[in-house]
Amino acid sequence: MYAIMARSISAAYPTSTDLVLNRIDLELPPGELIALVGPNGAGKSTLFKIIVGQKKALRGQLRIFGEPTHVQQRRGVVAYAPQEGFIDWDFPIEVRDVVLTGRYNHLRSSVASRLFPFAINKSQWLVIDKALEMVGMKSFARKPISALSGGQKKRVFLARALAQEASILLLDEPFNGVDKESEETIIQILLALKERGCTIIMASHDLNRMREIADRAIVLNKRIIADGSPEKVLDEKIISELFQLS
Ligand SMILES: Nc1ncnc2c1ncn2[C@@H]1O[C@H](COP(=O)(O)OP(=O)(O)OP(=O)(O)O)[C@@H](O)[C@H]1O
Ligand SMILES: [Mg+2]
Repeated sequence: MYAIMARSISAAYPTSTDLVLNRIDLELPPGELIALVGPNGAGKSTLFKIIVGQKKALRGQLRIFGEPTHVQQRRGVVAYAPQEGFIDWDFPIEVRDVVLTGRYNHLRSSVASRLFPFAINKSQWLVIDKALEMVGMKSFARKPISALSGGQKKRVFLARALAQEASILLLDEPFNGVDKESEETIIQILLALKERGCTIIMASHDLNRMREIADRAIVLNKRIIADGSPEKVLDEKIISELFQLS
């Protein structure tokens, strides 16, 4: 069964009748790391938003592990680390609380938290601590989010997605602004998650990096331009030619 299956997904924004995604077909088996590449405005972030249920497709069909997306989204099967902030960084909350929001599905499904909605038990905090540790941000757990640098914010997003313990991870340019050392650590974590069967889709402009770590590459520019092995698909020359054609 496919982790994600899309049939002819099209999307537009209310500001224009132009399609930003045009008949996207995907068949993504579980346990792969997939690079999603394409120029600015190609529709990468839009595709992520559709998969995670933040945006509706205009047309088409989407299945996550064989089920309609809303079913799996409710179960927290898909975690999403967005390209940009979804939170007000001046809001006076601590780093660990941002990561806690990634535990929403786990909290909702536990009987204890249904009975005592404000009691977040120790095991939840342990998962959160672990996720922050993975991205090297544990010492920031009790810091206000307003005190974070750009790269640190990015790592907190990733910690939030990791804390969700989801089967599908959508990472939108997760290494933008992140230093090389943290990037290495995070890649090792992602590869370990993949070994455990996690499906990871990563939007990135770093073709060299994607060639190194991805099992498969999808080139998007409103429609799917190429889909195949990273060595074949992520050739700089081929890519620039493809973009001129599209
Ligand atoms: N909220 C919005 N309202 C209107 N148009 C939007 C909105 N978000 C994105 N778009 C448009 O949709 C198209 C696809 O945008 P999207 O953000 O999905 O691209 P992307 O591939 O993620 O680009 P980038 O590499 O810059 O992150 C662009 O033409 C963009 O202008
Ligand atoms: Mg984007």
